[in-house]
Amino acid sequence: MNDRIPVTYDAERGTFTLRTANTAYQMAVTEYGHLLHLYYGETLPDNDVSYLIPRVIRSHESNPPEAGTDRTYSLCAYPQEFSSNDAGDYRIPSIELVNGDGSYAFVGKYVRHRIYDGKYSLDGMPSLFANDGKDGENVRTLEIDLEDSVTHVGVTLLYGVFFDKDVITRSVIVRNGGDSGIRLQRIMSASIDFTAGDLDMIEFFGHHYVERQTDRKRVTHGISEIGSFRGSSGHFHNPFAILCDPDTTEERGGAYGFALMYSGNFVFDAELDGYGQTRAAMGIHPKQFEFLLEPGDTFTAPEVVMAYSGEGLGKLSRIYHDIFRGNVCPSKFVGQDRPVLINSWEPFRFTFDTQKLLETARISKELGADMFVLDDGWFGDRDSERAGLGDWTVNEKKLPGGINTLADSIHELGMKFGLWFEPEMVNEDSDLYRSHPDWCLRVPGRAPSRSRHQLCLDLSRDDVCDHLIRTVNAILDSGKIDYVKWDYNRYVCDVYSTAYPPSRQGEIYHRYILGLYKILDGIISTHPDILFEGCSGGGGRYDGAMLAYFPQIWCSDNTDAPARLTIQYGTSFAYPVCTMGAHVSVCPNKRTKRTVPLKTRALVAMHGTFGYELDPAVMTKEEREECAEYTQFFREHASLIRTGDYYRLASPYDDRLYTAWQFTSKDGDESLVCAVTTDVSTNDKVSYVKPRGLDKNAFYTVRHIAFGNDKNDKEYTEERLLSGAALMNIGIMLPLSAPQYSSFLLFLSRKKKA
Ligand code: DGJ
Repeated sequence: MNDRIPVTYDAERGTFTLRTANTAYQMAVTEYGHLLHLYYGETLPDNDVSYLIPRVIRSHESNPPEAGTDRTYSLCAYPQEFSSNDAGDYRIPSIELVNGDGSYAFVGKYVRHRIYDGKYSLDGMPSLFANDGKDGENVRTLEIDLEDSVTHVGVTLLYGVFFDKDVITRSVIVRNGGDSGIRLQRIMSASIDFTAGDLDMIEFFGHHYVERQTDRKRVTHGISEIGSFRGSSGHFHNPFAILCDPDTTEERGGAYGFALMYSGNFVFDAELDGYGQTRAAMGIHPKQFEFLLEPGDTFTAPEVVMAYSGEGLGKLSRIYHDIFRGNVCPSKFVGQDRPVLINSWEPFRFTFDTQKLLETARISKELGADMFVLDDGWFGDRDSERAGLGDWTVNEKKLPGGINTLADSIHELGMKFGLWFEPEMVNEDSDLYRSHPDWCLRVPGRAPSRSRHQLCLDLSRDDVCDHLIRTVNAILDSGKIDYVKWDYNRYVCDVYSTAYPPSRQGEIYHRYILGLYKILDGIISTHPDILFEGCSGGGGRYDGAMLAYFPQIWCSDNTDAPARLTIQYGTSFAYPVCTMGAHVSVCPNKRTKRTVPLKTRALVAMHGTFGYELDPAVMTKEEREECAEYTQFFREHASLIRTGDYYRLASPYDDRLYTAWQFTSKDGDESLVCAVTTDVSTNDKVSYVKPRGLDKNAFYTVRHIAFGNDKNDKEYTEERLLSGAALMNIGIMLPLSAPQYSSFLLFLSRKKKA
């Protein structure tokens, strides 16, 4: 057996085995054609572990007719790869549909399979890409066709196996091979049955200003569910969840990750049944979802990106960071240092003119910024949240000469120029709404709900999508624009489209998201050199699919550094630091009214794309000089932060005095360790920050990085030579009695062997 083969089929045993460098995933076709899920976890050399199926009589459970008198064969007691409906498996189903004859039954049985090199792609939706074998990348696809022999409705289960990245993707295509229409009401992109229970679920919840807080709880009997039916992946739960052993920590224990490559309604379920079996399922949220499939029609479900780590949560995150950076985000920007931008929103909101903007751009060069971003308010009659959204023509009262004149002037200052858009929305007080009121989502006979005084455009309509592609492209072509911030500032409701008949209204939530991807494809493909940053009232649409378009996403509208510690900590479980939009803003912070040192604000913003969101004209000369030091440091280490391995050293939720994290270069030669004191105490124990992932036998020069006044402090100028073993076992001592919210940055460099 060749251990580097990602997909094998053992015809004799009827088993499929997927292998990555450190994991194995196995399925088996039974004597009656049902596809069972046998195993997912740590690598196994075995080609068949079906002995784990308990062939026992589960009294009262149904036995399929083909099993005859064999009472041990039950769909509910066996682990399923794609669970059936109305056929005796009472756990959460992979599929729910109404057949042409009104029945609900679906039983998929194995028909055929295909194995091929490279990675499948999905129609109309982003999914992971393979890099054509670059750097020895070893990727293969398995497709398994199952069919219901009565209705001829079929599903193709898709598996993308990224051997070296330790990732397996899954998706499903439903095909109506029958001769009457069906109504598809639920389709899970992936579901996994664990024969034993006892799992914790970790998920990332929150709301506007408080995104991706970390929640860990035991999966208890019944269904533990997270999801969104707000039309977007949303602030409230992230489409990423972890199932892990109850004793799994950052460094030890088993952990499974599930990330949905989808920006709309989603659900993640973990069901623990009475037999101690756990089923996990992820896909589009079934609420208000109903797709009509006429004979011959297909439906493609979004992709789930799965990973398993046997070495704790930290390793699981590093797997996701590598796959999102290498196989999801636009390659052009992953390899590049990003601009250090200054954004106009927090300082100026809607009130600015050309002179103010140019003056800000000019002074922000003193901070070291190299891109000026004009946020909301540059178009139509947009002087407040109440008007102008939808009218993507420049407001010449504020910006005479238009975007090209402003963009040219900014470039003449030696800076790049970026612009804000919110294409998916419209104010009623706008020319667009006055000419096309029917372009909004709205239930017949009811006035639609407003949110932030805006309505949602109906992106399920081709004419709306075409209009947005045309209008946004026209602005992007009207001047030298280097960056776009793509915002989205409300949740969706009143979901009804006049472009579709009543029988198809259950399709609109999903069609909206397909329309969004179509618009993004239509704009980004014609502007491949523009860097796009996603945003949704801060981090309300932070998901894998958005990363396929936006290599960075504004993490939160909360720019308070201590608040950002929990937000960025939670975000880091799935998403790489180089995708997190993070800026230095003023103090007292506009949201929390908290004041923290400039250095801490800067170090926390370096846990991200790093930039500024303030008016540099009101800063002192010393503050501007200090910022220039931060910018310079960030630039010097941008590649380490962007591409390095990330470690969470101390959680902001721990009962400790500090939060800490670390970036280590892939060759292990350099490491940055950052700590923020989150609490204070007098005469307390000493805090030692323990770096991870070092070579215990190597020696490292350990140097505090001094900024501003630190430079006069002896503590910051001393260098030490310490072994990896000492650093990882004893740690680095933080100064005693450091005030709350002070911060420390250490640079470790491995000493070359003589
Ligand atoms: C919400 C975003 O998160 C902010 O950064 C800003 O762009 C505003 N929208 C503008 O309306």
